[in-house]
Amino acid sequence: MGRVCRSYVLMPPQLLTFDHLGSLSRVAAEMLVFQARQAIEERGFFTLALSGGSTPRGLYKTLADVEYVEQVSWPQTHVFWGDERCVPPDHEESNFKQAWDLLLSKVPIPEENIYRMRGELPPEETAADYARQLKKFCLPAPLGGRGLGWGGVDFPRFDVVLLGMGTDGHTASLFPGQEHVWDQPAVAVAVTANYAGRPAPRVSLTPRVFNAARQVFFLVAGADKAEMLRQVLDARPPSMPVPASRIRPEKGRVTWFVDREAASLLPA
Ligand code: 6PG
Repeated sequence: MGRVCRSYVLMPPQLLTFDHLGSLSRVAAEMLVFQARQAIEERGFFTLALSGGSTPRGLYKTLADVEYVEQVSWPQTHVFWGDERCVPPDHEESNFKQAWDLLLSKVPIPEENIYRMRGELPPEETAADYARQLKKFCLPAPLGGRGLGWGGVDFPRFDVVLLGMGTDGHTASLFPGQEHVWDQPAVAVAVTANYAGRPAPRVSLTPRVFNAARQVFFLVAGADKAEMLRQVLDARPPSMPVPASRIRPEKGRVTWFVDREAASLLPA
């Protein structure tokens, strides 16, 4: 049983460790299929927010495998992004392009179920446009939305959010030292951050969106993440300065999918 937080039960994060990225990706795919089925059974559709970065590539490829492709009802799946680098959609550094090439172009998802961040626009416009797309998704069906009726909110409560983590503890495009982002009433924000030579102008969903999710899957691999992972999993409120440690949905669950190298500094 988790810690009681206000009127909810805050579920402790779940940690799953794997020998290699292949098995990590397969189990993440299985758990995503399970969540998709459950969401469709309960609500008639499945909402998934994708991540950028290299770690989810194996998961995207696995989901596109013949063995898995029929296990998700793609026509009932709506795909979003947690963040995007501000580049055109055909740019090698585009998070949309990565997901399109490895997964979305290979599964029977209707084009209108793909909600990409328009990275080719100026960053502030990309963020505003995405907030409009999310709000429209929540509108009643006659207005082109899904009639979510979820407390009159302007973004969906995602069934699954995929996230990665940088060696500095960033997640999506929520970077250390960008405190103003944490109390943002906005749904999406433009940020600038230099990391691993990747494009610096970016757009990210805000913590209030991630922390409303039903399930958050963090995928983390590699020895260079080991020390940060130890810190993040050790962090306890109220002192949780690193962005990845602050994604803790009050009414949802966080699962860490971690390879052996990234887990090497965790207590046995
Ligand atoms: C991005 C991301 C970012 C990523 C981490 C981890 O667009 O760059 O969404 O948050 O997930 O930097 O990246 P790796 O998986 O490549 O380590």
